[in-house]
Amino acid sequence: MDISELVTTAQALVTPGKGILAIDESTGTIAKRFATVSVESSEETRRDYRSTLLTTPELGNHISGAILFDETLRQSTPDGTPLPEVMREQGIIPGIKVDTGAKNLAGHDGEKVTEGLDGLRERLQEYAALGAGFAKWRAVITIGDDIPTSACIESNTHALARYAALCQESGLVPIVEPEVLMDGSHDLDDCFDVTEATLRSLFAQLYEQDVILEGVILKASMVISGSTCEERADVDEVAQATLTCLLNAVPAAVAGIVFLSGGQGDQEATAHLDAMNRLGEFAWPLSFSYGRALQQQALKAWAGNLGNPEPAQSALAHRAKMNGLAAMGEYDPAAEI
Ligand code: 13P
Repeated sequence: MDISELVTTAQALVTPGKGILAIDESTGTIAKRFATVSVESSEETRRDYRSTLLTTPELGNHISGAILFDETLRQSTPDGTPLPEVMREQGIIPGIKVDTGAKNLAGHDGEKVTEGLDGLRERLQEYAALGAGFAKWRAVITIGDDIPTSACIESNTHALARYAALCQESGLVPIVEPEVLMDGSHDLDDCFDVTEATLRSLFAQLYEQDVILEGVILKASMVISGSTCEERADVDEVAQATLTCLLNAVPAAVAGIVFLSGGQGDQEATAHLDAMNRLGEFAWPLSFSYGRALQQQALKAWAGNLGNPEPAQSALAHRAKMNGLAAMGEYDPAAEI
């Protein structure tokens, strides 16, 4: 394992003013997203959509890396250029989702554990050979009556740590993503407590597995009120609570922290990131790794203009730019279109 190469890749992913585009929806999830814009999901439509996004002119100005699904890493543009090559030409590092999804945790109603460790070493070696520089594994933690249990938190963080160690062995930077879901009526304090417990468990497990934190990116959910909470915290409260939680639980050695959007609105996710970066400078850069919050407008524009990439590309370029500014605490909502 070449540690300096891992660290270089991790730092490049959180270059100031840049963040990560998450387009790694599984085949089932992308079919649901396409259904919202009345497009059937096929190998061809998925290739067209994702290659439209990845060939956006100057995307590399604000996007440092993109997380792909297995199929996309193997696809090419219509002129035959492999998508990982198109990305590298723009200075965008190809990443790959390697977990195989969150499954019901035995004996624990309403809780999930993410699978995918079997055969992972061999898959990672293949992905590295195909040009990937980093990987992603997402664990899901649900807040509800008497959950999450420590059994759920520990099963998930243990798997995340074993995945991270395998990634580093193969020269890939692991993005570790313990997502505390926004679904539910819980308040900001409940989200804070669960997020802190999850992060503390995660970093204990990473330590146990000898994972090098300088070569790790944390993909975090924000500390935010549940989606059906009656009194939702405002932007400044979310920013303050999230930072306090991260400062309590995330070692300074971690290369960077990127957020998922988790069902937040596009501009809401941008405003939260901006508010955090206005609170000061921290040991780790704070940036974005949004899926829906980067793609929503682009997806609609693509579906409404099949065969003409320009509207989708300009929608994506705009959101990438707004979030790139937010990653530096320089976002101005007046620049929204
Ligand atoms: P969202 O930003 O849509 O939550 O997706 C990010 C992601 O990659 C979840 O794993």
